[in-house]
Amino acid sequence: ISSSQHQMHSFLDCLNSGSLPSKFIFTPENQSYTSLFFSSIQNNRTLLNSPKPLLIITPTLESHVSATVLCSKELNIPLRTRSGGHDYEGLSYTTTSSSFVLIDLHKFRSITIDLTDNTAWADAGATLGELYYSISSQSGNTLAFPAGVCPTVGLGGHFSGGGLGMMMRAYGLAVDNIIDARIATASGEVLDRGSMGEDLFWALRGGGGASFGIILSYKLKLLQIPPKVTVLNIDKLLEQGAIKLLAKWQQIAHNLDKRLFLRVVLQVVDDENHKSSNKTLMASFQSLFLGEQTELLTLMAESFPELGVKSNHCVELSWIRSVLYIAGFPPGGSLKKLLDRKPQYHDLFKTKSDFLSVPFNVDVWEAISARLVGQNEPPYVIIDPFGGRMDEIGVTETPFPHRKGSLYGIQYIKTWEDPGVETARENIDRMRNLYKFMTPYVSRDPRAAYLNYRDLDLGRNANMNASYSEASVWGEKYYKVNFRRLAQVKSKAENIDRYANKLCLALQGLLN
Ligand code: FDA
Repeated sequence: ISSSQHQMHSFLDCLNSGSLPSKFIFTPENQSYTSLFFSSIQNNRTLLNSPKPLLIITPTLESHVSATVLCSKELNIPLRTRSGGHDYEGLSYTTTSSSFVLIDLHKFRSITIDLTDNTAWADAGATLGELYYSISSQSGNTLAFPAGVCPTVGLGGHFSGGGLGMMMRAYGLAVDNIIDARIATASGEVLDRGSMGEDLFWALRGGGGASFGIILSYKLKLLQIPPKVTVLNIDKLLEQGAIKLLAKWQQIAHNLDKRLFLRVVLQVVDDENHKSSNKTLMASFQSLFLGEQTELLTLMAESFPELGVKSNHCVELSWIRSVLYIAGFPPGGSLKKLLDRKPQYHDLFKTKSDFLSVPFNVDVWEAISARLVGQNEPPYVIIDPFGGRMDEIGVTETPFPHRKGSLYGIQYIKTWEDPGVETARENIDRMRNLYKFMTPYVSRDPRAAYLNYRDLDLGRNANMNASYSEASVWGEKYYKVNFRRLAQVKSKAENIDRYANKLCLALQGLLN
């Protein structure tokens, strides 16, 4: 019997004696094991060279989570926690060590809305689509919650890193609207805000998934939403003056009415005016406005007349239908689409992120455009305006530090189809080169990054004994001044229980 089989059997024995019913436990022999393992994986690149879990546990009760944690601790076998499986580097289901157990929370996903005080308790294994659907259907479309745009993203990972979306200029991030949480600690104990204390509660709101224990559920403050909102999409090519529009857009988008979120997606497309293989840059201006179309048209005419927004670029609809539209589905289609947990994108990809505190001028836009158009298989780039409510929340109020002064967040995304190692290497190199090219134009000291757009190129701890200064290499990029407090919260948790370090093995750095 191999050592991994021995570990698996020991874990099974432990779970049985902890009375976890066997229907929640999947061994590699189980018929559903493989489909379950792959069910929510978004980035197949991350599977290269990674072992599969000894067991997959699918809890439905808090006590199942605690029992799994206690066995992991007793047997010294690391756990990985997966909610929605969207981690860009696959940290929720891969490991560099040989054996681990996967706790997959997809069945742990109830959502309870309380309309007496406009709050919700949502389990970590629920997806954003399930959350938005429940809020909208139960409140009669009067309440909403500000978080990310992709319906299949899991709450557990997303809320652990911040959670930004199209309503952040009006309402901030998901973490700015979390008012309580329940967590299973390394000792198997379940704590809420009252019993965990404010330091740990602070750290849970953006300080990194898998860092402090297994988050079970969150209490959310729901927000009033007008009956009609308006979405807008308008594409401009280089030949249609995209550069000047981009330069103007970046002067104003972080300063607009806070109900108006106007982002840009840049991609290289075929230039249809040239019949040859010539390429051009397309800038898509995409917006969510928390109000009616007539008011949006007036605002756009006043602040950005050059874009030439007309009513045919806009769609007025309910907030929940705007969620469907922004996620790429027909806005009139079935809202049940939001409940589909099957990954919308099942890709190989690499992403990186940046922040801007100074808008690009026309020369910089020209240089970026030439670089993207001239590059073989360039990535696409999403640029989100901050400002508005984001400016009103202090840098240290939550671990997410990119507040006043961070005018824009940038995400670079490169996808490919060939699963070969060589293709992955080429594409990762392309991304690294573009990132290097962007250095003079983006934030510095530190060059900031967004935890939810996790990028292991920024660094990771070599082992469990990494020092604070070694970890700060990547930690300060994600967290700036907040990294020190996160490390302090973490070390306090470790003093309570040394095992916390191992439980949290999945984290990029605080714990490994
Ligand atoms: P996953 O389950 O992979 O977990 C991510 C990390 O959190 C892992 O380290 C994991 O161990 C840990 N974790 C998960 N559940 C936990 C729990 N219950 N307790 C403790 N730790 C836990 N971001 C954004 O801000 N806005 C957006 O609009 C989008 N859009 C988007 C679209 C797509 C297609 C992808 C792939 C990703 C995004 N993201 C995003 C990024 C997303 O927020 C980020 O990847 C989240 O970590 C995903 O959370 P999941 O629970 O799905 O991931």
